[in-house]
Amino acid sequence: MREISRALRSAGRRLGLVPTMGALHEGHISLVRAAREACDVVVLSAFVNPIQFGPAEDFERYPRRLAEDAELAAREGVEFVFAPSPAEMYPPGYATHVEVEGLSGRMCGASRPGHFRGVATVVLKLFEIVSPDLAVFGAKDYQQAAIIRRMALDLNLPVEILVAPTIREADGLAMSSRNAFLAPQERRAATVLRRGLDQAERLYAAGGRDAAEIESAVRKVLGGEPLARTDYVAVVDAETLEPAARLAGRTLVAMAVWIGDTRLIDNCVLE
Ligand code: PAJ
Repeated sequence: MREISRALRSAGRRLGLVPTMGALHEGHISLVRAAREACDVVVLSAFVNPIQFGPAEDFERYPRRLAEDAELAAREGVEFVFAPSPAEMYPPGYATHVEVEGLSGRMCGASRPGHFRGVATVVLKLFEIVSPDLAVFGAKDYQQAAIIRRMALDLNLPVEILVAPTIREADGLAMSSRNAFLAPQERRAATVLRRGLDQAERLYAAGGRDAAEIESAVRKVLGGEPLARTDYVAVVDAETLEPAARLAGRTLVAMAVWIGDTRLIDNCVLE
């Protein structure tokens, strides 16, 4: 991958990277298209990164479909699929990790200790291996994108970070590789995340600026779905991810919700 990347860059080609864990869906494809538009050559990485999963999480059952992914990627004009093995990425003796402080401790970071350390580490490794000019991430994982932006800024990484909008199913459910885990009844229940965000948007449009009020209204919607168990609801400043009692400027409404054994996340920005 490094040899390929070095040759392309010395030929003056602009390189785009789309990091994924594979099991590609339309959300991933939208990132590929954004990279395609902005770059000469697109690399898609497909790697289920073991160090971003907690011991009790779904690493083992996470879907792996490399052959299908490669075919889909090729159809979208992706030139290279980078799919290393865990042993190549983390050989025996591996000891280095990246910690983005502050941003990583809240929200998903509070529910999944060590998760963002694993994400930041693998993304930095991918940046080092691929040397992209541009890397594209999805707004669905808003906190992840914020952490990667922070890391790129803090470590002077010579890569531009682009964040592309969340792609949804017709009923509003954000596309996710984990949606495949949902039984039909759970799949119907999963629309509650989008309905919770709709409620926040309605209140905001009606002039609501009290963070606690918006949060409790969203919690109430989520609580109305018997198959859903709320992990967190956060109403925070969209830049700093810090809580603020009164909404001012861009505000992120983010949530994680368990539907059966599957943890789903979603968010929207009020502005
Ligand atoms: P993964 O969940 O496969 O997602 C890869 C990229 O696709 C992320 O940037 C994510 O935000 C984006 N994405 C997922 N669902 C989306 C949707 N419905 N609409 C738009 N974009 C969407 O996120 C990861 O993998 C990993 O943490 C990774 C960054 C690859 C590091 O291992």
